Amino acid sequence: MGVMLDLKNIKKYFTMGDEQIKALDDISLSVEKGEYVSIIGPSGSGKSTLMNIVGLLDIPDSGEYLLDGVNIKELSDGNLAKLRNQKIGFVFQNFNLLTKLTAWENVQVPLIYAGMSAKESKKIAYEYLAKVGLKGRENHLPKQLSGGQQQRVAIARALANKPEIILADEPTGALDSKTGTEIKKLLKDLNAEGQTIVLITHDNSMAEEAKRIVRIADGKLYEYERKTN
Ligand SMILES: Nc1ncnc2c1ncn2[C@@H]1O[C@H](COP(=O)(O)OP(=O)(O)O)[C@@H](O)[C@H]1O
Ligand SMILES: [Mg+2]
Repeated sequence: MGVMLDLKNIKKYFTMGDEQIKALDDISLSVEKGEYVSIIGPSGSGKSTLMNIVGLLDIPDSGEYLLDGVNIKELSDGNLAKLRNQKIGFVFQNFNLLTKLTAWENVQVPLIYAGMSAKESKKIAYEYLAKVGLKGRENHLPKQLSGGQQQRVAIARALANKPEIILADEPTGALDSKTGTEIKKLLKDLNAEGQTIVLITHDNSMAEEAKRIVRIADGKLYEYERKTN
């Protein structure tokens, strides 16, 4: 086991005109390997800002962030990108699939970036599409898939690199409730297999799948609920 994410006193401020927005106001959060944590809060509370920092897409103004024991302050931009590719699998509300590529090609992209051969990466793309229930849909373009299927492709893409953490920002935000429930179950199953998941949502029913729920409001974090089972 051990600690996967360790955020200490993270601050991120934005300036809009002469107003200062405290998007993250002294946030501390520690996530163990294998945990499933949801971070819940209303629109504008700082969820995406936090996701961007946890996912190494942005850096804090102050505070300390250790990702799997590595202090990100000590990394160059190039090494940050490398660590991001190795450790983090992103899942976004709007899927962020490449529209001109088929399902399997979308899953293949990060594998090619990681240096895998065309042949091996195609095989792995097919494996992960099967894992998320999309066997037979490999050659579909995103527009030929339903929203739920597109999100499954995005989850397969996130998983294929064997990330240490899946970071999902409102993954069911664009889906109807039935499809959302299927995605919820998929995330739960992945966690049961040992995948560390950080889920960001404003949806209570989505958050409740996680073993631990943390609440964010006005850039501040509150421990909210921790389930024992
Ligand atoms: N790049 C930015 N520039 C200025 N303000 C920002 C920027 N990103 C986010 N904010 C502000 O920070 C606060 C938190 O935003 P965000 O993290 O996107 O919230 P959430 O994802 O919870 O809706 C909001 O008040 C938002 O307007
Ligand atoms: Mg957001």
